Amino acid sequence: MNNTIQKTIEFVKQKLEGAEAGHDWFHIERVWKLSKKIAKTENCNLEVVELSALLHDIADPKFHNGDETLALKISREFLEGQNVDEVMIQQVLFVIQNISFKNRGEAPKVLPIELKIVQDADRIDAIGAIGVARTFNFGGFKNNLMYHPDLKPQLNMSKEEYKKSNGTTINHFYEKLLLLKDLMNTEEGKKIAKERHDFMLNFLDQFYKEWNVD
Ligand code: ADP
Ligand code: NI
Repeated sequence: MNNTIQKTIEFVKQKLEGAEAGHDWFHIERVWKLSKKIAKTENCNLEVVELSALLHDIADPKFHNGDETLALKISREFLEGQNVDEVMIQQVLFVIQNISFKNRGEAPKVLPIELKIVQDADRIDAIGAIGVARTFNFGGFKNNLMYHPDLKPQLNMSKEEYKKSNGTTINHFYEKLLLLKDLMNTEEGKKIAKERHDFMLNFLDQFYKEWNVD
């Protein structure tokens, strides 16, 4: 393994010590491996892909008072310390800055392939069985309700319905997780996402069935 990648792994592991289980080193490791798998099917700069995957959640604004610039600052400082050249630093920072689901409205029109790959990998780790586990872990971390029976959330809800179901962990499937398969950039990403999407639909069916004991 390339020495810069090895150093980056050590740096990220140490930085993310004690992180919430859905956003910890193991999330990074899965995204890194998924990124490498997708990268095999695309013509791309593998080092940019790997560095971006490893650094993409180094300082998630959710856990840092909404600070959107901290991750860029920490990553630049680290990469400069490793003597990574400026062009590559800028490519990696571009991925980190534009990867998020939240920012999809403001995303640049043409995405570099390295961003497409790491974004697919990050989104794939949000769905399927791992997605279910991460989402309930995050909901527990926030002390949210799992579900509220007054309203079964669904895609395309009215604003009022949305408000009522908002804040439950099950609702997160409808506001985000079930939308991800159609946002995949790469063919390989689409393939992996499909199986995981279908698993979530089955999970939700079973969840409602078990909730409604009759
Ligand atoms: P992004 O940075 O792409 O917007 P997030 O970091 O917000 O994505 O979300 C990553 C994962 O954290 C989600 O896929 C989900 O598992 C969990 N998560 C985020 N927000 C919530 C929420 N409100 N309820 C439950 N899980 C959540
Ligand atoms: Ni991530």
